[in-house]
Amino acid sequence: MSLYRARPDDGLCFMTGASSGIGRAAALVLARKGWTVVSVARSADKLQSLADEAEGLAGRIIPQTCDVTDENAVNDLMRRVVSEYGPIALAVFVAGNYWPVVGSDPSLENMKKTYEVNVFGVLHGLVPAILHMRDRNKGQIAIVGSVSAYGGLPMASAYGASKAALNNMAAALKFDLDKLNIRVQIVNPGFIDTPLTEQNNFKMPFLMKVEEAAEAMVDGLENGSFEVTFPKSLATILKVVNFFPYGVYFPVMRRIMGWKDRKLPAPKHFFARQDRDEGPGKTEAVEG
Ligand SMILES: NC(=O)c1ccc[n+]([C@@H]2O[C@H](COP(=O)([O-])OP(=O)(O)OC[C@H]3O[C@@H](n4cnc5c(N)ncnc54)[C@H](OP(=O)(O)O)[C@@H]3O)[C@@H](O)[C@H]2O)c1
Repeated sequence: MSLYRARPDDGLCFMTGASSGIGRAAALVLARKGWTVVSVARSADKLQSLADEAEGLAGRIIPQTCDVTDENAVNDLMRRVVSEYGPIALAVFVAGNYWPVVGSDPSLENMKKTYEVNVFGVLHGLVPAILHMRDRNKGQIAIVGSVSAYGGLPMASAYGASKAALNNMAAALKFDLDKLNIRVQIVNPGFIDTPLTEQNNFKMPFLMKVEEAAEAMVDGLENGSFEVTFPKSLATILKVVNFFPYGVYFPVMRRIMGWKDRKLPAPKHFFARQDRDEGPGKTEAVEG
């Protein structure tokens, strides 16, 4: 028996992170293909504008506000969605955020926030989704990681690590979920032009338009392969570079990321700064 592939006539799509960027654009692609997309995020106004934009498409958007870091809220939402709108055939966990961490002045606050949203924010929906799909003996789950999961990148010591956790977890789950007829996928985008990457003050190689990224993501969901990447060029280069020993990896990555000539922010004395009640590890942008 071949592994389940979700179809719009078989249930809902439950998608987090649908108010902006990749999630918003992907929700529209899915609605165009006839999916009813339960679109989850914190911003009610942005979700409503998404629902308005989807008017007249083959499918529809059901906006639902929820903070994915709130375990009970996500669990309650999923339960309510299933009882009010029907079973979930496809769960897509897109919600995530990027807080840069400068290695020379690491922000503990940024590191914690990263794991709360990017890791626990996924787990809060993933666990009830698996249990719901287990009851149905079928389901499809996609988790949005990042190519930064492949190996350490500048400013991404928290972000990349959180996405590496998702990659590892998805692969580990696949062994058992396959037996339950639940297809699990990891989606690893490269640099996509969204509000998340607007803050980057460095050259982003192979930057992709969000509409193209959304099309590529939905193609990947339909195609069903375990890993979905876009743009392929960046993902392939990073996979190859990560294959080499670190003696090759670091010089190549410094060049690709334009990091060779970057200057670190002026150092501040750690304890003197704490005395001024600024707290440890406030992040400053790296000078270009
Ligand atoms: N853009 C890239 O280059 C890139 C590359 C690789 C991976 N990714 C990943 O792709 C995903 C989407 O990123 P994006 O670039 O589209 O960013 P984005 O435009 O900033 O969108 C992030 C989405 O996540 C939601 N979100 C954030 N925190 C949330 C929370 N606590 N509870 C509920 N929803 C929350 C946001 O909605 P609200 O603010 O309304 O809650 C928004 O809908 C993320 O997981 C990101 O890590 C992006």
